[in-house]
Amino acid sequence: MADEKTTAKTSVLLEETRIFEAPRELAENSNVMKWMKEKGFTTEREMRLWCSANYIQFWGEMAKTYADWFEPYASILEWKPPYARWFVGGKCNVTHNCVDRHAQGAKKDKVAYIFVPEPVDQPTQKITYAMLEKEVNKFANGLKSLGVVKGDRVMLYMPMIPQLPIAMLAIAKIGAIHCIVFSGFSAGGLNSRIMDAEAKVVVTVDGFYTEDRLFILYTSGTTGKPKGIEHVHGGYCVGPAQTLHWVFDIKDSDVWWCTADIGWITGHSYIVYGPLTLGATSIMYEGSPDFPDLGRWYKIIQDNKVSVFYTAPTAVRMLMKAGDQWAKPYDVSSLRLLGSVGEPINPEAWMWYRNTFGAGKLPIMDTWWQTETGTFLVSPLPITPLKPGSATFPLPGFNVDILDEEANPVPLGSGGNIVSATPWPSMLRAFYKDTERYQKEYWSTYWEIRPGTYLAGDKAMKDKDGYFFIQGRIDDVLKIAGHRISNAEVESALVSHPKVAEAAVIGKPDEVKGEVIVAFVILRTGQVESEDLKKELAKHVRTVLGPVAYPETVLFVKDVPKTRSGKIMRRVIKAKALGKPTGDLSALANPEAVEAIPLI
Ligand code: WT7
Repeated sequence: MADEKTTAKTSVLLEETRIFEAPRELAENSNVMKWMKEKGFTTEREMRLWCSANYIQFWGEMAKTYADWFEPYASILEWKPPYARWFVGGKCNVTHNCVDRHAQGAKKDKVAYIFVPEPVDQPTQKITYAMLEKEVNKFANGLKSLGVVKGDRVMLYMPMIPQLPIAMLAIAKIGAIHCIVFSGFSAGGLNSRIMDAEAKVVVTVDGFYTEDRLFILYTSGTTGKPKGIEHVHGGYCVGPAQTLHWVFDIKDSDVWWCTADIGWITGHSYIVYGPLTLGATSIMYEGSPDFPDLGRWYKIIQDNKVSVFYTAPTAVRMLMKAGDQWAKPYDVSSLRLLGSVGEPINPEAWMWYRNTFGAGKLPIMDTWWQTETGTFLVSPLPITPLKPGSATFPLPGFNVDILDEEANPVPLGSGGNIVSATPWPSMLRAFYKDTERYQKEYWSTYWEIRPGTYLAGDKAMKDKDGYFFIQGRIDDVLKIAGHRISNAEVESALVSHPKVAEAAVIGKPDEVKGEVIVAFVILRTGQVESEDLKKELAKHVRTVLGPVAYPETVLFVKDVPKTRSGKIMRRVIKAKALGKPTGDLSALANPEAVEAIPLI
């Protein structure tokens, strides 16, 4: 039985009415449009529906398009819920697909990575596919001479330098399993993961069957034992490349920049496996966005003629907070497509991103996915009419839906739990050494009614046109006088005020209403904190969302606690504000922000 928290409906207070059509030329020349024309589809909707209804056939075709196979697969999918095997009997190697086939072909002198070191006086370094192949082989031989063999776990604990993808690809080449620990974690964080994975070698500064393990990645949990998510070769030869090619429309001439760290799934899929499988050119930046000043990212885009740019809402809000003057000196007109990932992007931040990076016209691909999913599941395509703050629709080949507690798809205009009704190639295969938790966390909720339904753990709603709006994690929910309200929605209402840069909202227990809303607000640079402004902000939320969402308390802070991948840690804020133990803070990027949270 699912508990009340996972299934109750969340009220939807605000409707987004703005729609932005894709620029005609971009849409007409997009990779997805080319495929649609070949197949004879006339509308995007028809295409999405057909691919999802025929997902097995669809992924069978994609597997042939995006990957080379040493031996063809005998069947596309064997699905014994909750265990999927894709491309069964097929033999492939992700390193062959990412490196060797390009290095030995027409792309040998194409740049795979433009490495930008943090210090401004150090030159950028260009690494071609041929150079990459040489380095990967050297590293693979080194690993072999250390006795590393197929199936061994190899831990990597390295910063954003080219040696990191080289090491990953070398490990994959010899059939070992890489396990990256984000280099910002403390020694304790590293140690618990090494012990869990029983790694044979820790590194610091030839074909496999489909279901052979490629990597384990630990998700950044806040408390308790981290979850080791397992992914496999075959799925990774297909999923990241296909989704990158369709969603971000990568062409041979593009310079792609995904600002994530390789230590997160975004970096695994969209700095390493996806772009390299496509033979694309990527930026890899070692440093932080504000070094030596807040113009650094704009400068990197200008200097390297970046054409497709993918970042996180937290970074967008940080740059928005700092102001457009940092962008002004730079020419970012090389950009043609933008993207966002990691948490819901507030409509206000979405508009700012589109205006500042996108000259008021570039589409933003708001991609919804997870460490577990390996690739985007819900996302616009470059042909999709966009609504600010919406990840739009399930991608072709996926059957993502929003269900109520009885496992019925929710009607348009309401919310529920986001699920996937069918498997997909890059899905997680297991939790490392914890089968029970794998079954329980993702598959148990709807098992009796719809076995094989994957529960993502997020709430979402569909608006009247069927657009998906992600509302955050299931356990991040406010309950005010019987209404369930998404924290993210109240935060968005606050950020829509011109003086606000960022906001975190929590519920404070209240005898009458169940909970009342307390908002922690970060002002934009140059704005002055005052009691009047607090009242103005509370009133603003009431105007935007209605009286039920009225924040009882508004507090100004300089920073809110976040994970290293930029997610606001509302649970930690709540514990600190209510005087409760905050638990393990090792996943936080800025533990000092916890100290500054006042008691409420
Ligand atoms: C969770 C997964 C996916 C790569 C980075 C994070 C949230 C992710 C979006 C989005 C709203 C989003 C969800 C999801 N999330 N993308 N576009 N809109 N929320 O990977 O650490 O595994 O986190 O991030 O809550 O479940 P992750």
